[in-house]
Amino acid sequence: MSLGIKRNIPLIDQHDKNFMYGGKFGGNFIPETLKKPIDDLTILFAKLRKEKKFLYQRDHYFKNYIGAPTPFIKLENLTDHLGGAQIYAKVVSEANGGAHKIYNATVHCLIAKKAGKKYIIGDTGAGYAGKMLSMAAKEFGLKCKIFMGAKDIKRQRPNVEAIKKNGAEIVPVTTGSQTLVDAVSECMRYWVSNCDTTHMCVGSTVGPNIFIKICAWSTAQISRELMQQVKEEFGKIPNKLKLINCVGGGSSAAGFWNEFMNTHAEFIGVEAGGPKNSKLHAAPLTNGSKIGILHGAAQYVIQNKEGQIGSTESISAGLDYPGISPLHCFLKDAKRAKYTSASDEDALKAYQLVSKLENISPSLEPSHAFAEAIRIAPKLKSSEVIIVNSCGDSLKDKDIIKQKLGSYIR
Ligand SMILES: Cc1ncc(COP(=O)(O)O)c(C=O)c1O
Repeated sequence: MSLGIKRNIPLIDQHDKNFMYGGKFGGNFIPETLKKPIDDLTILFAKLRKEKKFLYQRDHYFKNYIGAPTPFIKLENLTDHLGGAQIYAKVVSEANGGAHKIYNATVHCLIAKKAGKKYIIGDTGAGYAGKMLSMAAKEFGLKCKIFMGAKDIKRQRPNVEAIKKNGAEIVPVTTGSQTLVDAVSECMRYWVSNCDTTHMCVGSTVGPNIFIKICAWSTAQISRELMQQVKEEFGKIPNKLKLINCVGGGSSAAGFWNEFMNTHAEFIGVEAGGPKNSKLHAAPLTNGSKIGILHGAAQYVIQNKEGQIGSTESISAGLDYPGISPLHCFLKDAKRAKYTSASDEDALKAYQLVSKLENISPSLEPSHAFAEAIRIAPKLKSSEVIIVNSCGDSLKDKDIIKQKLGSYIR
């Protein structure tokens, strides 16, 4: 089986009949009880994504509810400060709610309505996926439950408050590491017993194939806008262009790169390297993790010798996940994207520098991407262009930042 990417097929559709990308990533490793709901959702989404009316509704909500297009700006001060490549940001944090998670949440609510479901559930780590799903559920009149690890509830207070304000119930998850990985597991477990009445939204490009598809199809809006903005700014796609994105589950990166898949643009994904003085991290691609099954899909996943899911550590709740989307495993093996990691300390420094010099203040997740941009920009020529997806706002991290740096600037 060739691992190559086929030019004329959308990335999300490049799987085989077993829903595997490159013959080895993804699939539907699900309990028998979920087979029918997953098949139904797969059929419904395949139909909806071809329907003009559905696409019209999606675009209507993206524009009027989410506020598309989000800005594309040159970071003049950062560029001058570092010397070297020109640095730009796609300011996705300007989307309604403050992060890219709103695209997936909105599309899932549209689908839930079409499926005649009254209830919607979802997982969250950084709290953004939960906040966005609770917002969109309110907009669409759906009752909403959010599964969130107890550790993340403590460290992402502003988003927790927002979820409650939107009228959603938070289900604290106290199993395992009490972070995103456990929240996704609990959410899926709940869905097994409630799928007749309830629609499930998976908050990233992870899980059984249909959730990867819906999520990446939704976040692709980011690169549709960016392609147009790049052409307006430069008159063409610059000869040397790097698109840098943080990767947790991988939904913002997949959306940021999608339209550029068949161009010469270079893709750099930045995983969470964890604290410098710790062996723990949340960077399965950078650290050569083996393939395992997590949340219904085969992927590179942090695991111990016995194949049990391993512990992770990251300052960023949104990146603190042992697995990674099968789409990114595929892009890595096909050598279409490169992956690296940034430490907690470098992400904090990047947050501080960008917030001090520019009019944006990235959350700790995109601060990992900025850390990589800051590392490589001085080594590049001024004709080269780096675009960073600033996919979240630092406000949700103000407690951690204050604790680590002594002050919070925005
Ligand atoms: C702002 C932000 N960026 C990035 C991520 C990582 O998720 P993904 O890799 O799916 O974009 C999260 C996850 O919660 C997030 O909140």
